[in-house]
Amino acid sequence: MRELWDEGVVEANYTPFASQPFTTHLISERIALLALEDGEPVGTVYANLTHEQAGVVFGLYVRPTARRRRGIARALMVAIAEALQTEGRTHMQLSVDRPNKAARSLYKTMGFEDAAWTMRIEAANLVS
Ligand SMILES: CC(C)(COP(=O)(O)OP(=O)(O)OC[C@H]1O[C@@H](n2cnc3c(N)ncnc32)[C@H](O)[C@@H]1OP(=O)(O)O)[C@@H](O)C(=O)NCCC(=O)NCCS
Repeated sequence: MRELWDEGVVEANYTPFASQPFTTHLISERIALLALEDGEPVGTVYANLTHEQAGVVFGLYVRPTARRRRGIARALMVAIAEALQTEGRTHMQLSVDRPNKAARSLYKTMGFEDAAWTMRIEAANLVS
């Protein structure tokens, strides 16, 4: 899981600051799913259960070596939806970086709707 997390962070690094590093809490305190193909790890997705009704999904990643555009990410998203329902969550939320066209297209085609904007500024720009 750590290897896939690190690969995903390197590839989907659209923020001007470092992403959260992998910790074992991601497995012990979150829902963590690993997709296997012929026994080999090919993809991951996580969700946290901190909200009583909505699961927050993050860390979706499919290895390019597994060949993409074969529905692995879509299958991981369906699997985590099922896991969240089992945990009593009625909704799923996630954030996606604006330049990440592949992920945005995936979520749109699955039926996710824009619900909020994340806004960002360098703190120094507000401090004189
Ligand atoms: C985004 C990502 C998870 C997609 O994985 P995948 O297994 O290739 O995705 P799927 O095969 O399930 O694709 C499902 C749909 O998503 C969309 N999609 C996926 N990759 C796309 C791309 N490169 N360009 C445009 N649309 C894309 C398409 O609508 C696709 O359906 P289609 O192939 O029938 O057209 C993968 O590219 C990845 O791991 N990227 C790096 C990490 C990342 O950005 N994670 C998301 C963080 S929010």
